[in-house]
Amino acid sequence: MSSPGPGHVPESVTEPAAPASLPVDADWWRQAVVYQIYPRSFADSDGDGLGDLAGIVQRADYLAELGVDAVWLSPFYPSALADGGYDIADHRYVDPRLGTLADFDALVAALQARGIRVVVDIVPNHTSDQHPWFVEALQAGRGSEARDRYLFREGTGPEGGEPPTDWVSSFGGPAWERVADGQWYLHTFAVQQPDLNWSRADVRDDFLATLRFWADRGVDGFRVDVAHLLTKDLSEPLPSAAELRGIPVDGKHPTVDRDDVHEIYAQWRQVFNSYDPPRSAVAEAWVDRSRIPLYARPESLGQAFNFDLLRADFDAAQFRRIVTDCLELAAQTGSSSTWVLSNHDVVRHPTRYGLPAPDRDAEGRQVARAGAAWLASGGTEPVLDRDGGVRRARAATLFVLGLPGSAYLYQGEELGLHEVAEIPADRRQDPTFFRTAGAQAGRDGCRVPLPWTRGGTALGFSAAPPHLPQPAWFADFSVEAEQADEASTLRLYRRALALRHRYRTAEELEWLETGRDDVLRFRRPNGWEVITNFGTEPFEIGAGEVLLTSTESADGVLPGEATAWLVRPAS
Ligand code: GLC
Repeated sequence: MSSPGPGHVPESVTEPAAPASLPVDADWWRQAVVYQIYPRSFADSDGDGLGDLAGIVQRADYLAELGVDAVWLSPFYPSALADGGYDIADHRYVDPRLGTLADFDALVAALQARGIRVVVDIVPNHTSDQHPWFVEALQAGRGSEARDRYLFREGTGPEGGEPPTDWVSSFGGPAWERVADGQWYLHTFAVQQPDLNWSRADVRDDFLATLRFWADRGVDGFRVDVAHLLTKDLSEPLPSAAELRGIPVDGKHPTVDRDDVHEIYAQWRQVFNSYDPPRSAVAEAWVDRSRIPLYARPESLGQAFNFDLLRADFDAAQFRRIVTDCLELAAQTGSSSTWVLSNHDVVRHPTRYGLPAPDRDAEGRQVARAGAAWLASGGTEPVLDRDGGVRRARAATLFVLGLPGSAYLYQGEELGLHEVAEIPADRRQDPTFFRTAGAQAGRDGCRVPLPWTRGGTALGFSAAPPHLPQPAWFADFSVEAEQADEASTLRLYRRALALRHRYRTAEELEWLETGRDDVLRFRRPNGWEVITNFGTEPFEIGAGEVLLTSTESADGVLPGEATAWLVRPAS
């Protein structure tokens, strides 16, 4: 990679505030703030319009100043980008467009020197169709060992011309694809992401080698992609899609959240624990809530994402119920809870909170994904309340950052970025868009490269046009603009993360009575209190030293749709 031009250096470069080396701490992840980087859209050092590893190194001081404890890197491995890098052609290498293994080592060194740990994404359910194993599987033909590493089956109907089942892939369209000799392979996601056969020892061993490879390079932890999908029972006769409907809870479903997946994580745990300190892991598991502890157990992955907040409205009762449930779930295993408001798969939370709450069914589940209709309309219908969305998002973020457990932030949320709806069809990348013939816009809108400066090519992201186009309004949300504005979301996040470090305490909370259904208040063991006003009527804060508010407030009164942090000695 070529060296950076001066234009790429952030405006305010400070000396690392964090310790010069990382203390050995096996529990670092329990209450960490983990910042997710989608590498291709974070910062580009070599002017090809695609973010890269050296670009992250150039922004290491930015991350230190933000005050995050760890960075989780979405895949940076070689990939044809059929699914934003989650289609991996080599799990133990770096996409040449993003750098080299030496760049990766430099990245780990730069972050760890600033007290920031590094988590990498492991994608075990599938490979890319460019992976040497899949190339070999196609060449080797029916009945071969190579083909058995994936999930090939004969078709149905005349000459096997119909797929083995009517299953639908996560991105729309059939979950089976036919190859030249007539067999079909299963792909839970894009056509270019064939599912692996996890009943094979060589598949299992290869991932153990991958975990060791990155752990040996100093990686502190792993985020495990669709951790609930690896093992499958495809014995005949295969059930129909209708027979498989519903969220399984018995661990015996043919393809989802099977009990036997935990044999794999027990092996992984042995690898993690062979390091000092043990490597951490967090499961991305879209499973019934009752099943989350299986993944979060110390003998399994140790922590699991809770995605309930991604599907919640800005609503006091919903937030309180989720917090109570998640803390209870974490307590079942001794893990810590995770809090997620945004990631690379969902509409950014300022946008979700700036749109009317989505319809829900009788069980309270969202009928459609929040923001989906708005995205499909190109961002015109319904009308987005931009300022209101950011106001609520800031309040929600401060609420979450006050909770016990670890908070996962997604790049750009510290700028209060909205989702980008205005991406032309010919610039779209997400397979969801193509597999649904544009009916679903997909996830490109939260993956648009970050704005670093108010002006210039790609707003400081790159010296070349960015791989996804940035809208003009991004300039107002740039790091440069927000650094100069004391009331900006960036400055709020920085203050919040610094205070969170100062007030970090035991993983407990106590709910306090507020006399209002739309105001939540909780206290941490050291007297740190969080009050969130989900309503619009102002709320009297009462005694205590206010540390921070998400909106300007005066005279001990918290305005509507705002959060305050304060300290009050325990009475
Ligand atoms: C996970 C990732 C998502 C990806 C999918 C398939 O859900 O978060 O981005 O498309 O897995 O790998």
